[in-house]
Amino acid sequence: MTPKPVDFTVAAATSARGAVTVQVPGDKSISHRALLFNALALREGGGLPRTERAGVRVTGLLESEDVGRTRAACEQLGVRIVREAGGAGGEVGWWIAPVEPLRGALSIDCGNSGTTARLLVGALAGLRDGAGHPMPIAATLHGDASLSRRPMRRVLDPLRQMGARVEVGDAGTLPLTVLPAVLTGMDHTSKIASAQVKSAILLAGLSAQGPTRYTEPTASRDHTERFFAAMGADFVIEGLRSTVRPGALRPVDVEVPGDVSSAAFWMVAACLLEGAQLTLPAVGVNPTRTGAIDVLRSMGAEVTVEERGGVEPLGDVRVRCAGLRGTTLSGALIPRLIDEIPVLAVAAAFAHGETVIRDAEELRVKESDRIATVVNGLRAMGAEAEATPDGMRIFGRGGAGMRAARIESHGDHRIAMAFAVAGLRTGMQLADVACVATSYPAFFDDLRRFQAQ
Ligand code: S3P
Repeated sequence: MTPKPVDFTVAAATSARGAVTVQVPGDKSISHRALLFNALALREGGGLPRTERAGVRVTGLLESEDVGRTRAACEQLGVRIVREAGGAGGEVGWWIAPVEPLRGALSIDCGNSGTTARLLVGALAGLRDGAGHPMPIAATLHGDASLSRRPMRRVLDPLRQMGARVEVGDAGTLPLTVLPAVLTGMDHTSKIASAQVKSAILLAGLSAQGPTRYTEPTASRDHTERFFAAMGADFVIEGLRSTVRPGALRPVDVEVPGDVSSAAFWMVAACLLEGAQLTLPAVGVNPTRTGAIDVLRSMGAEVTVEERGGVEPLGDVRVRCAGLRGTTLSGALIPRLIDEIPVLAVAAAFAHGETVIRDAEELRVKESDRIATVVNGLRAMGAEAEATPDGMRIFGRGGAGMRAARIESHGDHRIAMAFAVAGLRTGMQLADVACVATSYPAFFDDLRRFQAQ
């Protein structure tokens, strides 16, 4: 499954475009959780008697490398996950059902996926068997070169305070081994707004003794909380504080909406291409994820959302734009668009005026150092941009002086896709683009929709 380095040349889209519709793939964050949380509910020790553990169906799942890692890990923990094409509406469904769990030493390959690694550590830390005893497994998590550099102490430190037993090297990075332990709930205040950390601690809280309270500095994506509510967890949210009490999750069928982070590439593309009228059907519009829509509106784009309710709200998003202006991204907005910053920075480079991005030091520890990779890429294209410790400044001149360049993805899917979108205006040579498969395998097919018009 390891992607091979592949280069790709993007041809600039030429004339006015008219109507473009893109059906983006399923949401990555929700797909990971749909598999993992249902696996925890259905597996031995999940709380359900053997006779009640039938199975659940997930539709709209993102079929990508990252989600494939979570799927494989779940299968190692005692469920079978089967793809079924052609449901009632012709859609693809994934059936999750319990099987005998593995015991002893497990080796789990998390690939490039931080969400797989961090959520799994929390889920594994207090895992129980059918008799309620710590599950007799030693699970070693490992990942690719990028994931093996990313910080894990942010989850390991609080989990250890709960009693987790984890063996890890001095760097506090993968590989690490989670050993069986009995956990005790605790009150934890995090300094970073990270949904991965929050989710890991709340998952551990499900199997701890006593309540676990987790407070975050600003709101991060709340998919885990929405799943916990839908799956019957003993769970309370008060502002930025969530409290979970020990108990089982009930399995639920899930309809995964389109990924707003993937949709953001096309929203920006529509803003860069004069005359484009973009429609993105059935995109997840959970307010903890829609910062990019707010920002594009503040930059002058016309973005409308026809919203339908649900556990995870979704809606049809339409974008038209007649030129962008610079803006400021900071504070509580940042976690609501953290993954969209590379492509918003591209938008800023083609806008008129200065864009300032602050409070985004988390970008330094994503799949690449995204402050460096974005600023270096924009400069290679002739943009005026400078890195700051917690963000960047971009001086947009409406695209004047911007040119095609050769951009290294650094194995980071969102860097490859952001600069591919920039290439719709200037042309672009992208090095090492196979990484798009981690979140959006059909990205380059969809990119062509903007060129064919
Ligand atoms: C994610 C949370 C974010 C995000 C990542 C997915 C999640 O990471 O960048 O792509 O699904 O919980 P952090 O929690 O590290 O901010």
